[in-house]
Amino acid sequence: MDILLQNLQPLFLALLLIVPLLFLLGFVFRFRRRLPYPPGPKGLPIVGNMLMMDQLTHRGLAKLAKEYGGLLHLKMGNLHMMAVSSPEIARQVLQVQDNIFSNRPATIAISYLTYDRADMAFAHYGPFWRQMRKLCVMKLFSRKRAESWESVRDEVDCMVKTVAANIGKPVNVGELIFTLTMNITYRAAFGSTNQGQAEFIRILQEFSKLFGAFNIADFIPWLSWIDPQGLNTRLAEARKALDKFIDLIIDEHMQKRADNNVPDEANTDMVDDLLAFYSDEAKVNESDDLQNSIRLTRDNIKAIIMDVMFGGTETVASAIEWALTELIKSPEDMKRVQQELADVVGLERRVEEGDFEKLTFLKCTLKETLRLHPPIPLLLHETAEDAEVAGYYIPKKSRVMINAWAIGRDRNSWEEPETFRPARFLKESMPDFKGSNFEFIPFGSGRRSCPGMQLGLYALDLAVAHLLHCFTWELPDGMKPSELDMNDVFGLTAPRATRLVAIPTKRVVCQL
Ligand code: HEM
Ligand SMILES: *[C@@H]1O[C@H](CO)[C@@H](O)[C@H](O)[C@H]1NC(C)=O
Ligand SMILES: *[C@@H]1O[C@H](CO)[C@@H](O)[C@H](O)[C@H]1NC(C)=O
Repeated sequence: MDILLQNLQPLFLALLLIVPLLFLLGFVFRFRRRLPYPPGPKGLPIVGNMLMMDQLTHRGLAKLAKEYGGLLHLKMGNLHMMAVSSPEIARQVLQVQDNIFSNRPATIAISYLTYDRADMAFAHYGPFWRQMRKLCVMKLFSRKRAESWESVRDEVDCMVKTVAANIGKPVNVGELIFTLTMNITYRAAFGSTNQGQAEFIRILQEFSKLFGAFNIADFIPWLSWIDPQGLNTRLAEARKALDKFIDLIIDEHMQKRADNNVPDEANTDMVDDLLAFYSDEAKVNESDDLQNSIRLTRDNIKAIIMDVMFGGTETVASAIEWALTELIKSPEDMKRVQQELADVVGLERRVEEGDFEKLTFLKCTLKETLRLHPPIPLLLHETAEDAEVAGYYIPKKSRVMINAWAIGRDRNSWEEPETFRPARFLKESMPDFKGSNFEFIPFGSGRRSCPGMQLGLYALDLAVAHLLHCFTWELPDGMKPSELDMNDVFGLTAPRATRLVAIPTKRVVCQL
């Protein structure tokens, strides 16, 4: 026995030494193996790069990308941020590893105002989001839901009449177009009544401001007690205002249903369609049968309506206004678009649906507009797990900003990227925006790409075609096209910094 122990002693000692050594080695090894963060500007302790906050715009990040490359890292307080500015990295993030990169970041304000992510746009990737998305794609934004398409046509008609009543006078085209798209989404969502629209726009504007407001608590949570702008009160008030507004509308719609007075299939609005899934208890499961698997609460309904308002109003308005502005700035291209309209449609009648497939140059113009001015310049995603991209480490819960604006102007993908030249899209084999060409992603790509693309493009096509076929446009006060302000402002969308004002003259010989 003793001998056995004596013999074991060296082994024991060795174990005593080796085990900790192995531990230590493992530690070192792990640290070694961990990849570096992507390159980026050096930050300060604790606050990181927070002093660069004002550079977190599409333009600021594009400039940084020139220095640090297509994937760069910033640290804002506790938060890791990655900016993606090259088509190849975008493909990695939106396609190759999309299962990791398909969550949405949300600030405290966004979480609160979306009823804790009860909508689709800010829901994390998962069963709930999947069912909401199915509902939106199959019911709300579907081509089969003809009423949405009809409200686009009617409201464009209404806009043409407004312009026709102002021939020869300066028209604030920017404002006109914003009311157009607002009218379209409002009507698609709530039905034909325009009452209360002014109040609703006020609510949306406050939401928009709160979405963009800087809140220190988003970056350094233990500083959340500092609230110099009184954000918490404003958030509560904004949501209360929305509750008051939409609850009334929901109640009216429910009353209609209770009275068995549901408008026939062809005349329902989005609230009607959503109420078909209403239940007091939230329940979402993954069954394929939509009707059985989704139960929406009031909060869901409100939050989805807000998605439609935010996703479908300013985006489309920004694209229409930029298209007109670029064409006025480039008279050669304007002439060509209008000549095409005259050839295909003729000046004796208005543009109709069947004409669109023949309006090739117009299509190119709209593509070129979306390339230079993607309405949502930064796609915001969040990682669900640790990831590796291009040999760099991207920790879980990083905020990933895919710079669609910078990618559309990428030197390696586009000739003379800063020049507006619609004719470049006449060539076969040019990238399309359906999402498989990562150098051109105005609607994003993959799981989180825009579900409202068809509806948005329809409104864009129709509005621009009518405005250019029915009228010629001149700048007021002898302003030269080259003097047009081409700056944009940064927010959720990137509209023009100044509203376009122009004077219409009637072009067609038919009645408007
Ligand atoms: C020209 C018009 C439009 C453009 C350029 C556009 C662009 C985009 C982009 C870039 C995204 C984000 C993609 C990503 O994060 O990867 C998006 C998402 C979304 N868009 Fe659009 N959009 C347009 C019109 C519309 C319309 C008309 C609607 C609704 C009626 C709409 C509803 C949405 C919704 C709900 C989402 C969130 C989808 C999700 O998170 O799963 N959009 N859009
Ligand atoms: C939007 O709707 C309002 C209210 O019906 C109307 O006065 C206005 O002319 C419409 N605007 C456009 C551009 O269609
Ligand atoms: C989903 O809901 C349907 C209808 O209520 C039910 O039959 C089915 O068992 C549910 N599926 C799951 C996975 O809970």
